[in-house]
Amino acid sequence: MTKHVKGADALPLNQIIAGDCIDVMNSLPAGSVDLIFADPPYNLQLKGELHRPDNSKVDAVDDHWDQFNSFRAYDEFTTAWLKAARRLLKPNGAIWVIGSYHNIFRVGASLQNEGFWILNDVVWRKSNPMPNFRGKRFTNAHETMIWAGKDESSKYTFNYEALKALNEGIQMRSDWVLPICTGHERLKDEAGDKAHPTQKPESLLHRVLVGSTNPGDVVLDPFFGTGTTGAVAKMLGREYIGIEREAAYRKVAEKRIASVRKFDKEALSVSASKRAEPRVPFGQLVERGMLRPGEELYSMNKRHKAKVRADGTLIGDDIKGSIHQVGAHLEGAPSCNGWTYWCFKREGKVVPIDVLRQQIRSEMHD
Ligand SMILES: C[S@@+](CC[C@H](N)C(=O)[O-])C[C@H]1O[C@@H](n2cnc3c(N)ncnc32)[C@H](O)[C@@H]1O
Repeated sequence: MTKHVKGADALPLNQIIAGDCIDVMNSLPAGSVDLIFADPPYNLQLKGELHRPDNSKVDAVDDHWDQFNSFRAYDEFTTAWLKAARRLLKPNGAIWVIGSYHNIFRVGASLQNEGFWILNDVVWRKSNPMPNFRGKRFTNAHETMIWAGKDESSKYTFNYEALKALNEGIQMRSDWVLPICTGHERLKDEAGDKAHPTQKPESLLHRVLVGSTNPGDVVLDPFFGTGTTGAVAKMLGREYIGIEREAAYRKVAEKRIASVRKFDKEALSVSASKRAEPRVPFGQLVERGMLRPGEELYSMNKRHKAKVRADGTLIGDDIKGSIHQVGAHLEGAPSCNGWTYWCFKREGKVVPIDVLRQQIRSEMHD
């Protein structure tokens, strides 16, 4: 639902606010938003029409909302909206800003000038970019997203394990290969033309929101356009606030979000960060009598064994040390996760020692 908010003191959750984003953000309560995703005007400075080799006109971004008279005017605008955005963020809040070579370097400098702390720049590599029709420059096949904390000390959300799981168990890198928005995802107006020239793909927002927010978090998008951020936030059980100046875009976004369904609660829970789990020293298993000094442990691959010592270290044929050090030495590896490497025997069964750690952790959660 579109709202015209004046001096609101409560957060207008799951709404699209009409108006200029700087005025609207300044009217919202300070320190109330977990994440801002911003896709601001790119200031493309297109000179004249662009044509394909067959002479058809390229549907480029030449809209009035993307026009600024000078770099200085663009910088002043950027500083003003970033100031308003930073005021809105909770102390541990963060921001993502997406842009192209036309604007992202200016935005990066302004972010730092305003006190944000840059955490990463992520390159969104387009798997299906538009060709360079004139053949005078490289095909422009990526956009850059800057991810920054509200300040240097912000304890921003980073769902490391969830992102790793999304990437089939491999640490997520800062270059993301995803297609641009095409096909049924591309919203059309009544005449069948693109409803918006810069609609972002939902896959991009999915990764951003799964990686840097939790269910229930408040996500604000000051340049809402067709509402990609709102649609993905709704699916993922996050609360959104959209701000958009153009009525036609708000209308498209409202219709789009109304048809989106939230995933069920079970599907929304993601792999938790191991770092968030309480640390259990191996020695505690010995102190608590779960493993006895002198007891033998066996490597998962059954090739090696070592004895538990009273201080929680292991002793093998020619090595003493922690479960990790002894495992690494026996395997000739630079490192080893002793928790998943070593097993003990109970009633004829071989059991990984990690089962005992999980048992202690579950008592801590009770
Ligand atoms: C790059 S587009 C965002 C597209 C959006 N990410 C999507 O997926 O549809 C920028 C949007 O910001 C809006 N806009 C530009 N300046 C604005 C301002 N000062 N306040 C509010 N909206 C603004 C434009 O109308 C445009 O829809």
